[in-house]
Amino acid sequence: MSERFYVTTPLYYVNDKPHIGHSYTTVAADVIARYRRAQGADVHFLTGTDEHGQKVLQKATERGLSPQAHADELHQRFKDLWVRLDITYDDFIRTTEPRHTRVVQQVLQDLYDRGEIYEDSYAGWYSTAAERFWTEKDLVDGKCPESGQPVEWLEESNLFFRMSKYADQLREWADARPEWVTPESRYNELQGALRKDIGDLCITRPVERMPWGIPIPWDDRFVTYVWFDALLNYITAVGYKADDDAFSKWWPADVQLLGKDILTTHTVYWGTMLFALGLEPARHLLAHGWWTVEGQKMSKSLGNVVDPHLLVDAYGADSVRYVLMAEKALGPDGDFSHKGFQLRYNAELANDIGNLAHRALSMTEKWLGGVVPALGDATEADGALARELAARVQSCCGCMDRLAYQEATREIVGIAQAGNNYIQTQQPWALNKAGDTARLAGVMRRTLEVCRVVAVLLQPFCPNKAGELLGRLGLSDARLDADLARLSGLTEGATLTLGDPLFPRLLELPDAITAALEAARGAAPLKSLDAEAGPTPPKKSKKKAPKARKPEPPPPPGAISKDQFEQVQLRAGRVLAAEAHPNADRLLVLTVDLGEDRPRTICAGVAGRYQPDELVGLTVVVVANLKPAKLRGVPSEGMILAAGDGDGLAMVTTLAEVEPGAIVR
Ligand code: MSP
Repeated sequence: MSERFYVTTPLYYVNDKPHIGHSYTTVAADVIARYRRAQGADVHFLTGTDEHGQKVLQKATERGLSPQAHADELHQRFKDLWVRLDITYDDFIRTTEPRHTRVVQQVLQDLYDRGEIYEDSYAGWYSTAAERFWTEKDLVDGKCPESGQPVEWLEESNLFFRMSKYADQLREWADARPEWVTPESRYNELQGALRKDIGDLCITRPVERMPWGIPIPWDDRFVTYVWFDALLNYITAVGYKADDDAFSKWWPADVQLLGKDILTTHTVYWGTMLFALGLEPARHLLAHGWWTVEGQKMSKSLGNVVDPHLLVDAYGADSVRYVLMAEKALGPDGDFSHKGFQLRYNAELANDIGNLAHRALSMTEKWLGGVVPALGDATEADGALARELAARVQSCCGCMDRLAYQEATREIVGIAQAGNNYIQTQQPWALNKAGDTARLAGVMRRTLEVCRVVAVLLQPFCPNKAGELLGRLGLSDARLDADLARLSGLTEGATLTLGDPLFPRLLELPDAITAALEAARGAAPLKSLDAEAGPTPPKKSKKKAPKARKPEPPPPPGAISKDQFEQVQLRAGRVLAAEAHPNADRLLVLTVDLGEDRPRTICAGVAGRYQPDELVGLTVVVVANLKPAKLRGVPSEGMILAAGDGDGLAMVTTLAEVEPGAIVR
């Protein structure tokens, strides 16, 4: 019997364009939904839009539209973005839909009939900008402490929900479940809030002040406060008071995802509302941290709001999903930068994962006819690989269960690195040269199995690329089950497909990003990744050219002929591995594939600029016919081109992937 799994995101206000903050919550929910489906669970993933209240009314009025017409138009922006980000929600609820408004009114009537709602009058300093009351001592210089705008003294009647009646029940609930809310810092924040008097909740707005809400069924002076209305979506969407079977199947939800800013509404308001209805809260609430952008709070006035469409255009949905989940842990805040994006993409997707897949598939194609080879007998090294894989798969699944996505991606990358190291130590090129086909088959088969494991675990994050990789490995579908880590999931004899690199390296900022950054900063053009660190220094003024006419420019000092140049064989090489030189701080020892029988060992003086891992997967330019030499005791079979000097040496690379060994002209 398959388990059921219900996950929700907050409902997004239809007062703005969706940005990476919204995308983050929704991608996180999609990752867990896909992961649970891959495990065979019956999943219900709910998202939607929050369409009532002051903010939406204000925005609609600014646009000269009725709030309903405005919401009809804007909710579509979220739906469109979710298509682009490959979000597989099962239901999208809008709080203006009758299936929701009808049940909200029934809930209100029910609570009112049971004496849970009462009328009272309230007086205080009201701020229209912040849409709330303040007490005298809250004010700063007589103005709203949040918006800095003037406040007015207002006395009005409203309806109140007896929230305080359920305070003890909520305290007991939270005390008994230290992991009800994660991360721990948010749980502690909740406990702090529960130590105080939580009071009763004002759940209406007078119609003459704010008419855009669900009408109170028994009193036309009021509409429902937007939070009381919106929170109920989590149960109205799954059949509360409409479809008992559906409701008892799905509620309580397994995970409710939300941002840290809406913790109180989702614990104190929502928890007590559910208790008043005789229902239990969700099993787990995860309140995630916020994104800043290039070190600053994301805000319209700073012009730094990151448009997810732009990211998808530039990098593709899979990469955006992966980097959002891998760049920061869910709980704490994190910073988004394009440089950070590209570094992570290049290091993990292009180098570790993409490179493993490309090496495994191309070597098997070249030496074993492009079909899944036989496993053969296992050696000591094979046993070690199998054990590492089993441990990492188990740890990765544990991370996924805890919604620790960043840690889960560390394990996936670790598995890819284990695969790359295995190739390095098993040296399939040497086995091929020695004609040891049986062992070559065993090594390549195990490497391909590692690719399968990576693809299956990567699926929730990068559904398209992972699916493509599985297809290239001859699989149409792969379940995430207990056998995942066993090195025998592929079908012997199945045809493999090499294809282009799955995650081509990003060598410079995509044009769309450069243009957007320039527009936002009004700054000097950015082109290279490093240029993002600061504006380009002004060029030194060139000396004026001499006026005298010269028919032919003189040859530059040390000029050589074309024939002489052609004596130097320049070839493209792919860096398979890199490590520090044992005896020289400035040197790295690279293993470079030049399309020959075996890769070459080449020492390069670039340790001041690059970490060894950064170079793996890069295509570099090698002087291939240089006499071999020993550099501080390590043999070096060629020279790698680099520009600059000292610690700033930058390696010369190609703009697009080329075959190892290609001639550089
Ligand atoms: N409509 C309410 C939620 C009602 S749920 C019944 C709301 N909407 S919102 O559109 O303002 O925010 C939705 C979510 O986006 C929140 O979880 C919020 O934390 C998240 N984010 C908004 N800006 C964010 C960042 N800069 N970074 C990460 N998430 C952020 O609140």
